[in-house]
Amino acid sequence: MAERTLIIRRMEAKDIERAGEIIVAAFNDVFTRHGYHPPFPSREVGISLARGYWQREPQESFVAIENNAVIGSGFLHLRDDTAGIGPITVDPASQAKGAGKELMMAVIRTARRCPSLRLVQDAFNTTSFPLYSKLGFASCGTVLGLSGKDFRAVSRPRIHTIRELTTADVEEVAALDAKLTGITRPQDLQFFAAQPPQLVSLVAGQLTGYLCMLRTGDSTFFGPAVATDSSILRSLIVRAAEMESGKALRMRLPARHHELQLDMLRMGFRVDHLQTYMVRGPWHVPKGTDLLAVFPEAL
Ligand SMILES: CC(C)(COP(=O)(O)OP(=O)(O)OC[C@H]1O[C@@H](n2cnc3c(N)ncnc32)[C@H](O)[C@@H]1OP(=O)(O)O)[C@@H](O)C(=O)NCCC(=O)NCCS
Repeated sequence: MAERTLIIRRMEAKDIERAGEIIVAAFNDVFTRHGYHPPFPSREVGISLARGYWQREPQESFVAIENNAVIGSGFLHLRDDTAGIGPITVDPASQAKGAGKELMMAVIRTARRCPSLRLVQDAFNTTSFPLYSKLGFASCGTVLGLSGKDFRAVSRPRIHTIRELTTADVEEVAALDAKLTGITRPQDLQFFAAQPPQLVSLVAGQLTGYLCMLRTGDSTFFGPAVATDSSILRSLIVRAAEMESGKALRMRLPARHHELQLDMLRMGFRVDHLQTYMVRGPWHVPKGTDLLAVFPEAL
């Protein structure tokens, strides 16, 4: 029998299509096997995700190659002293043979100067949790994957001013973000500012929070977002839901924000599935109230 050769290397343009198809196949397979709706509506969404990450972070995008064919991919997102990881996927036909672990080890090696690595794992997935755990990632709490479409009206306190984010706000928003979440990511805020409208909140003229929206077709993902307190983030979400009315809305809410969680359930959001926030290295509970990003993954 021919010896198995597994190579991990940086992603190239020619790999994008297959890598995107595998992202879709791997997630739709594991979600369906556990009785959940497949999260990816089409192969094109996976391909555009792989292309988007590769174009922004080519040095941090990896593929696993076996017998000259792409069988998986993994993405790193370095942000100063923190980095997000994901998605990591292996073709269902090639799983449980070490490719996922090799992809993770390549990502961890590339991030060796970055002290704190983060990722989000689907809580039902009994493969990914021990894989990450054995590589040094510890659980830092549950995350609720929320979704919804039609919402009940929720009153909004009048002391908050909410307006659109402008590129001129980015520096101040990045400073508030770093102070509250500990993550330095002005490049991500620039990325969202270039796709208006995004939102900021002010109280007595002082910046108190922001909420970014990632729009894909007929759905919108809320996050990254952070505010100095729960009621301010709630106001940002309510305004964003009004603006994106008629679309399917999703967000990743850390479950420790219990008050906001109850507000979201009352508003009409549903819990799609639970996830685990896992960190390798130092992590401090963020100040304020936050939503996790899906782009870039897991920050
Ligand atoms: C998660 C995923 C990337 C793993 O890739 P893979 O190639 O199948 O994983 P590997 O074979 O490299 O490693 C799996 C590890 O988990 C261990 N493992 C698997 N199931 C386990 C269980 N139930 N209990 C304990 N350990 C388990 C294996 O023993 C192996 O560890 P080892 O190498 O130390 O023996 C792949 O299953 C996948 O694409 N899943 C769907 C998409 C997904 O959920 N991605 C993760 C997003 S966060």
